[in-house]
Amino acid sequence: VNYSGDYSQLVTPEVKNRLNAIHEGIHTKSAAGADFLGWVDWPGNMSNEFLQDIQNTAEQVRSTSDVLVVIGIGGSYLGSKAVIEALSTPFETKEGLEVIFAGQMVSGEYLKQLMSYLDGKEVSLNVISKSGKTTEPALAFRFLQQYMEKRYGEQATSRIIVTTDEEKGALLSLAIEKGYKRYVVPNDIGGRYSVFTAVGLLPIAAAGYDIAKLMGGATKAQEEFNLVDPTTNSAIQYAIIRKHLYDAGYPVEIMATFDEKLRYIQEWWKQLFGESEGKEGKGIFPASVVYSTDLHSLGQYIQDGKRMLFETFLTVEKANDDLTVFEAENDGDELNYLSGLTLHEFNHACHEATASAHLDGGVPQVSLTIEQIDEEHIGHLLYFYMISCAYSAYLLDINPFDQPGVEDYKNNIFKILKKPGY
Ligand code: PA5
Repeated sequence: VNYSGDYSQLVTPEVKNRLNAIHEGIHTKSAAGADFLGWVDWPGNMSNEFLQDIQNTAEQVRSTSDVLVVIGIGGSYLGSKAVIEALSTPFETKEGLEVIFAGQMVSGEYLKQLMSYLDGKEVSLNVISKSGKTTEPALAFRFLQQYMEKRYGEQATSRIIVTTDEEKGALLSLAIEKGYKRYVVPNDIGGRYSVFTAVGLLPIAAAGYDIAKLMGGATKAQEEFNLVDPTTNSAIQYAIIRKHLYDAGYPVEIMATFDEKLRYIQEWWKQLFGESEGKEGKGIFPASVVYSTDLHSLGQYIQDGKRMLFETFLTVEKANDDLTVFEAENDGDELNYLSGLTLHEFNHACHEATASAHLDGGVPQVSLTIEQIDEEHIGHLLYFYMISCAYSAYLLDINPFDQPGVEDYKNNIFKILKKPGY
């Protein structure tokens, strides 16, 4: 973590005491929302048998299907979507299994077009809902389950996998009645902290990515961010800087990346921080931009608009692949001055230029750097964000693990549409 201000000034004895108390609360499971701290030790505690079981199911899906439709919303969708988008190659011809998401919004047109797309392809479904009663994914599942039964008859059962609570919910009852294979969302892990459970791992493994490496990165992060030392623990540093900037009058954080592949990591981050912190009239509003695209759009506002923003760059040290600018015989485009420069190096220069311009414009800067985009580093990054988010929310005296606002709208839907009992 790099910060444009003087970080050492932020680590006062008072902040240190607060951090020690938070650390103690997290690790003795006595902090607010302690019933939902299961994710903290989850990577290190995960058994090889569990990982193998997920890999076997993913292998079975891959060997029988061209497409896996993953149905879920919020934390039941964004983790796997973010990892798959980060690791996949654009313009890939889908020779392996294609993962398609549904139920993350409601659209008859989308579902009809999806079902026509599925015709002629072999299909499996993974429906994910911790509560087992969220309307959007439940609606999508109703249509897709019918589609599967029409296409496969009794064989549909072996192509549907349900990931839900162990003990309650309409989805659980349905899964038991139909005899679908089931994975459990652990009781003590909430949706937005569930990417390393079956919620995230099964779709990621089915998409062909190495979940052992992903968990390796997460386990490394669990060990690395376990000590409450603000001089070495970058997850704590990020939380301290955010709290300082929030108190200093910057209630909006813009996560900026130069890598299109990280767009959904930003979406996942927005959900994680927004839903964890935005309560009781408090919290930093998380927003995101992808550069250079947004330098020609929101960049103007960031540079020059109302001063309430700070900017956090998420940068990648090594490109997985690259191009070098070559010397053109006729320098008609006047770009020969760049010859020998890689496009990744161009983005580094663009980062420096943007950060310095925005700093001059009164936007404090934070930088988070990962070495490269692969399973291990993404696993490490996601755990970094989760633990940092817990510290951030506790620094604001907020319980990071509930979402009363989201529940309000869910219950209102039930009332408006006259669900029995509401
Ligand atoms: O992070 C959360 O808890 C939420 O975003 C949930 O994941 C989201 O509301 C979906 O809930 P469920 O998995 O119960 O369908």
